[in-house]
Amino acid sequence: MSARVIDGKAIAAAVRERVRGEVAEHVAAGAPVPTLATVIVGDDPASEIYVANKHRACEEAGMGSIHHGPAASTSEAELLELVADLGADDGVDGILVQLPVPDQISPDAIVAAIDPAKDVDGLTPLNAGLLAHGTPGLVPCTPAGVFEILRHEGVELEGAEAVVVGRSKLVGVPVARLLLGANATVTICHSRTRDLAATCARADVLVAAVGVPGLLGAEAIKPGAVVIDVGTNRTEDGLRGDVDFEAATEVAWAITPVPGGVGPMTIAMLLVNTLQAARARSGSPA
Ligand code: GUN
Repeated sequence: MSARVIDGKAIAAAVRERVRGEVAEHVAAGAPVPTLATVIVGDDPASEIYVANKHRACEEAGMGSIHHGPAASTSEAELLELVADLGADDGVDGILVQLPVPDQISPDAIVAAIDPAKDVDGLTPLNAGLLAHGTPGLVPCTPAGVFEILRHEGVELEGAEAVVVGRSKLVGVPVARLLLGANATVTICHSRTRDLAATCARADVLVAAVGVPGLLGAEAIKPGAVVIDVGTNRTEDGLRGDVDFEAATEVAWAITPVPGGVGPMTIAMLLVNTLQAARARSGSPA
């Protein structure tokens, strides 16, 4: 058997096209152009590429975007002041502080200072708490992208065994919470999990978000499973996921490739969140 390879690029393109239409309607109704503000502290080359792609996506969707690039030596107090200024700026609907930030700055302190109504990363304690309560506000982009893929593929989540590998605040925990909200039976695995492969092999839906290239092989996949690989690991052989793709395709029913699976969804969902924040701020219906 060879698994269906899920085309994340095509799903993301459809989401972006839908957002483009909705932005046009929003603006035609007299609302301001939804605008994203990004911040990179210092000059991390990977962050520069990610954020440039986010700006291009905003432009293609008919949204505005602005960028701040304070120096790597910026203090936590200075960054907090910038985040507060963006929160108070009526022309800004979404705020994204690209992580990681330099060592002298606490990422948790910065994230907590973002206006929750503009928190298009969905990482503030308020939005994380709303998700934990099952009444989501702004949902983190990558988990929202995973969920959109599952929805697009028509994957039955009600009563399904779902296993999430990784417990990060950015991906693992929010993905698990979304799956629980869809009535899946959810297990979260992490570095202390005793028998990782055996636990994963129970999964009808397996989400890998752990950052170890090729960690999950055929023995970790249940025949007929849907495998969502969030891993984006730079290796000598190029970008690789957390799942051994060749081995897994022999066992799974459907699988996301790396690259071209979850990756393109993250930016698409950032646009969805920015429009959602702009709508809420302008008082128009979601
Ligand atoms: N760095 C890597 N991924 C992300 C993300 O989704 N949001 C932010 N703010 N920083 C990141």
